[in-house]
Amino acid sequence: MPSLHFKGKSFVQNHHLVVPFHELTPVKAKGTSKTASLHDNLIVEGDNLKALKALLPTYHSKVKCIYIDPPYNTGNEGWAYNDAVNSPMMQDWLGKTVDREDLTRHDKWCCMMLPRLKLLREFLTDDGAIFVSIDDNEIHRLRCLMDEVFGEENFVATIIWQKKYSTKADSKFLSESHEFICVFARDIEKLALNGLARTEKQKEGYKNPDADARGDWTSGDLLRMEARDYAIFEIAGPTGKKFLPPKGTSWRFNKDKIEELRADKRIWFGEDGTSRPRLKRFLSEVREMIPAQTLWSFGEVGHSDSAKKELAALFADADEVFATPKPVALLQRIVALATEEDSVVLDAFAGSATTAHAVLAQNQMDGGGRRFVLIESAEYADTLSAERVRRVARGVTASKDEAVKAGLGGTFSYFKLGRPMQMSAILDGSTLPDFESLARYVFFTATGMEFDAKKLNRKTGFIGTSRHHDVFLLYTEDADKLKQLALTLDGARALPSISGKPKLVFAPTKYLDESFLDRLRITFCQLPFQIYKALDA
Ligand SMILES: C[S@@+](CC[C@H](N)C(=O)[O-])C[C@H]1O[C@@H](n2cnc3c(N)ncnc32)[C@H](O)[C@@H]1O
Repeated sequence: MPSLHFKGKSFVQNHHLVVPFHELTPVKAKGTSKTASLHDNLIVEGDNLKALKALLPTYHSKVKCIYIDPPYNTGNEGWAYNDAVNSPMMQDWLGKTVDREDLTRHDKWCCMMLPRLKLLREFLTDDGAIFVSIDDNEIHRLRCLMDEVFGEENFVATIIWQKKYSTKADSKFLSESHEFICVFARDIEKLALNGLARTEKQKEGYKNPDADARGDWTSGDLLRMEARDYAIFEIAGPTGKKFLPPKGTSWRFNKDKIEELRADKRIWFGEDGTSRPRLKRFLSEVREMIPAQTLWSFGEVGHSDSAKKELAALFADADEVFATPKPVALLQRIVALATEEDSVVLDAFAGSATTAHAVLAQNQMDGGGRRFVLIESAEYADTLSAERVRRVARGVTASKDEAVKAGLGGTFSYFKLGRPMQMSAILDGSTLPDFESLARYVFFTATGMEFDAKKLNRKTGFIGTSRHHDVFLLYTEDADKLKQLALTLDGARALPSISGKPKLVFAPTKYLDESFLDRLRITFCQLPFQIYKALDA
């Protein structure tokens, strides 16, 4: 398969693997839930590459719908490449604003996106999907990156969103009025998207000119654009006028079926009986939900200006606060199509938190309990993303949207990125992560399974049961004590049997030999080196 080449690709290909796990520190005062929890609606403050890695132990294969709205790389957004990739060329990129004059701007954008897309894929449930907003600046490169990360067979569609309602008179060539939303499935065979309810406008197309007892109907073509011999014959209308399918076509049914439909009053020859026959389709017989089309007009899902007005109703200084919000209806449509009532929705470029707003609005509409997980940089996470959620949840008097005026309800926990869990730092004792953060990290890395903090027992060191093991972590945040900590024979005998499965024990060292370990059905893993030993794989 042809693939996209760009400067720095070889350095970022596996960068997501070496990004260190970070602690996630709750900031209770910034959230609205009584107790901060990673299983709550979440806003995480920090760089999204690190934050995604930190969330992976909790949300691996748990997210049904991802929406992201990354920088479009227009050349005037003021974004800078900031990932700590081990390459002198790329270190030279750090902190420099990517503008139109930058000859490597597309390379930088691809280098920024590739590891993020790779991590995002890990979050999706098997039946999940990712929606990525983008415009003509990078759509073609994004599509290549997504083909590479998600597999081209998992491409679902590119949606066109009509973001503008007026013509830009000073456009040089054509007045651009749309952007794209590129959709990929985690696994196209398992993807299930919901349909959309027929709108009143769509139902208006159904009428009942012949007072049919079966109710309103519309008519569909009775012709097939292919000449099949068995379906080419004359049909006589009620006035005696005869109809033959035009050359190169045929009727959609054979003679017997047409007679049957006719006897059931399902063939329509127009008000005066002289038009070419068509097939009646009753509203009562068509599916209530229909697949969404790939063209989304501003009349259905809002436009850029309506999104700004929505934000202005929440923040008096919206214009200065944030320039590129998306309309709530646009995100709500994605949520309606791609989630069930208990799904998790992830947005790693949260901005003004339209995604959270849409999740709360959809929950209020259908009584669902969807959760959102948002990531946003320190610049906006508290004052914009979290503040919008605080406001729409409790209600905003100035809002024209009745639901927002009354308050959409819902609470969230706020976390920020803590210290990295660097193996070298654990080894020399310079930065020791707290017990729970290390336990979450060790458990996920060794087992690929989600860690449950409620099961943790600091006294015995038990941190969870995986498919094949009861897992223990002998660890303390005190550097001096940590140096002394070892799995001894007495300690090994004292480890409780939680599920009866063999034990997997992480500790800095051990003072007992292999034969005892075998007898006690213990696999020993030395901290920190053997954390990556995927014993349960
Ligand atoms: C186009 S905006 C998203 C707008 C959002 N969809 C809305 O409706 O408000 C992109 C956002 O991603 C954030 N962002 C960009 N790079 C980031 C990174 N590396 N980590 C975290 N956030 C980032 C920016 O701060 C900005 O708020």
